[in-house]
Amino acid sequence: MQTSSTYGPTAKFFHWLVVALLVAQYTIGSIMPHIGRNTQDAGWVHWHLLVGALILLAIVLRFAWRIKSPVPEPAADTNWERMLATFTHWMLYLLVFVITVLGWAAANSRGWEVKLFGLVPLPALCPKGSAWGHEAGDIHNVLIYVLLGFIALHLAGALKHHFIDRNDILKRMLPGSR
Ligand code: HEM
Ligand code: HEM
Repeated sequence: MQTSSTYGPTAKFFHWLVVALLVAQYTIGSIMPHIGRNTQDAGWVHWHLLVGALILLAIVLRFAWRIKSPVPEPAADTNWERMLATFTHWMLYLLVFVITVLGWAAANSRGWEVKLFGLVPLPALCPKGSAWGHEAGDIHNVLIYVLLGFIALHLAGALKHHFIDRNDILKRMLPGSR
């Protein structure tokens, strides 16, 4: 159960599922061939679209769960630390959502269909050859680095709580903790 002093199993499950999918997605995004006019929706590119659709589903479900369940107050010694933690959490949700939608549009602009679980086709956000879909791809490629920056800040905060402040903040997001 989720109380206001810890995260429940569902929140933890979604948190670590999204982390694992993002690690996979950054890896695939880095090793897939550079996407140009003649690139096909095959191999690593195909995996990128497959994992991307899963990330979108996971972040939407996670956010819906978050709205309906109480979450612990971000613990911090000072007001600015609490504000920074809250701002970072919202930016993580927002960036993952925006990046996946932009990636989806970029895929459609190249004439590729995005399918959930590789089976359920998602509607096209723009037609093949669309200028804004192409633009979406360029913004996607920039925002992935902004997201990396926020992930680094978030990770630094979690490690500071654990190793410097020596409190239970990291533990309350780990499996098995209560
Ligand atoms: C948060 C999740 C995602 C991450 C971290 C991510 C990461 C990346 C990376 C590292 C690249 C290569 C950038 C480059 O070559 O400079 C890329 C490109 C691309 N990604 Fe993603 N991606 C994500 C979600 C998605 C989704 C959901 C889709 C589509 C369903 C998608 C479709 C694409 C496309 C089409 C490109 C090529 C863009 C272009 O140059 O036109 N991505 N992504
Ligand atoms: C890299 C390893 C990571 C660690 C060690 C970690 C650790 C944590 C911890 C300890 C919390 C609880 C903070 C608190 O109680 O105030 C938390 C919350 C959160 N984490 Fe992570 N995290 C990691 C990666 C990520 C990534 C990649 C994302 C990207 C989506 C993310 C998104 C979030 C969000 C949105 C929250 C706030 C949950 C809420 O209250 O709604 N985390 N994380």
